[in-house]
Amino acid sequence: MSAPNKSYDPVEVETLKPEEIERMRDEALAAFAAADSLDALHEAKVAHTGPASPLALANREIGALPPHAKADAGKRVGMARGAVNKALAARQTELEAERDARVLVEEAVDVTLPYDRVPAGARHPLTTMMERVADVFVSMGYEVAEGPEVEAEWFNFDALNIAPDHPARTMQDTFFIEAGKGEDSGVVLRTHTSPVQIRSLLHREPPVYVVCPGRVYRTDELDATHTPVFHQIELLAVDEGLTMADLKGTLDHMVQSLFGADMKTRLRPNYFPFTEPSAEMDMLCYVCKGASVGDPDRPCRTCSSEGWIELGGCGMVNPRVLTACGVDPEKYSGFAFGFGIERMLMFRHNVEDMRDMVEGDVRFTRPFGMEI
Ligand code: PHE
Repeated sequence: MSAPNKSYDPVEVETLKPEEIERMRDEALAAFAAADSLDALHEAKVAHTGPASPLALANREIGALPPHAKADAGKRVGMARGAVNKALAARQTELEAERDARVLVEEAVDVTLPYDRVPAGARHPLTTMMERVADVFVSMGYEVAEGPEVEAEWFNFDALNIAPDHPARTMQDTFFIEAGKGEDSGVVLRTHTSPVQIRSLLHREPPVYVVCPGRVYRTDELDATHTPVFHQIELLAVDEGLTMADLKGTLDHMVQSLFGADMKTRLRPNYFPFTEPSAEMDMLCYVCKGASVGDPDRPCRTCSSEGWIELGGCGMVNPRVLTACGVDPEKYSGFAFGFGIERMLMFRHNVEDMRDMVEGDVRFTRPFGMEI
C-alpha cells in the first residue's frame, strides 16, 4: 500500500482543519451578532455565506479529498454552514423586528393632533354682503352686470347727464387718470357704479334688468366714516310702463328680503342728474322699527332714534340718459337705485370704524364666520 497522498490528507488541507472551520464559523457568528442594521447584516451575509466566503471556499476543497476523508470534512463544513445560516436567519428576524418597531414609532400618525393649525380663510363680509344683495335681485330675474373701475369720463359723467361744470367733476371727488382731448373722453376711477347703467343699456336691448355690484373711488381721506375706495350696488330696470310704484315695490322687497318681512322703505325728494324725479331712500330701522322715535326711554343706537336709516339714492331714469344710450324714452321708462355696501355693513353689524373694513385684520372678519 502506498503512503497516503499527503496533499489530499484533510489534516494537511489548511482550510479544512477542524479548528479552521470552527474559526470561520465563529467569525461569521460574531459578524452577524455585530451587525446592527439590515444593511450591515447583508454585508456580513455576503462575506460569510456568499460564494467567495471562507466556508464556501472550504466546501469546494472537499471535492478534491480522497473518498475516506470527504465524509468527515463534509460533515464538519456542513455543520458549520448550518450553524452560520441559522444564526444569520435569527439575526435577520431580530433586526427586522427592530426595524418594524422603529418604523411604527417614527412613522406613526398622531390622529389626535389638531388638523387645523392653519385657520381656514374666509371671504370678506363686504363681498358676502354684496352677493347677498345681488342674490335678492337674481332671484327676481335680474342679471349681474359689471364694468371697469378705470372708466371713461363719458360713462362716469356725460352719459349720466352730469354736465362738465357739475361739482362732481371737480378734483375734490374724482381721481382723474387722464385728461380728455378734444372729442376723446378723459379717464377716471369711477366715482359710482352708475356708469354700468350706461354700459348695460348700450349692450342690451330693453327690457333691461341688471344689478351691478362693484368698487368705486372718491378722493376722501380714510377715517372712521370715509374711505377713498368703497363698494356700491346699483340697480337698473328699463322696460315698457315702469313707474315709481315699481321702484318702491322693488325697494320694499329688497329690505324685506335682507332685514325681515315687516320692513319698509320711504322716499324723500332729492336730486341726481341721471334720475328724474330723484329720491333719497330710507329704510325703517330694523332694530327699533321706529319705536324709539320720541321715546327717550327707548333710545336706539342703530338709527340714533330717528326710526329710519338712510340707504342711498334712487329715481326714475332720466329720459336724457335713455336717449344717450339709444333707448326711446317715449316707449321705455326705467328706475334705478344705488347705495353703499360699507354703510350697510356698518349699521347692520354695528361696525363703528370704517377702517376696520379695509385693514384686513382677521380679528375683524373672523366673527362674521366662514361663508363660501
Ligand atoms: N350714483 C349715485 C351715488 O353714487 C346713487 C344713485 C344711483 C342715485 C342710481 C340714483 C340712481 O350717489
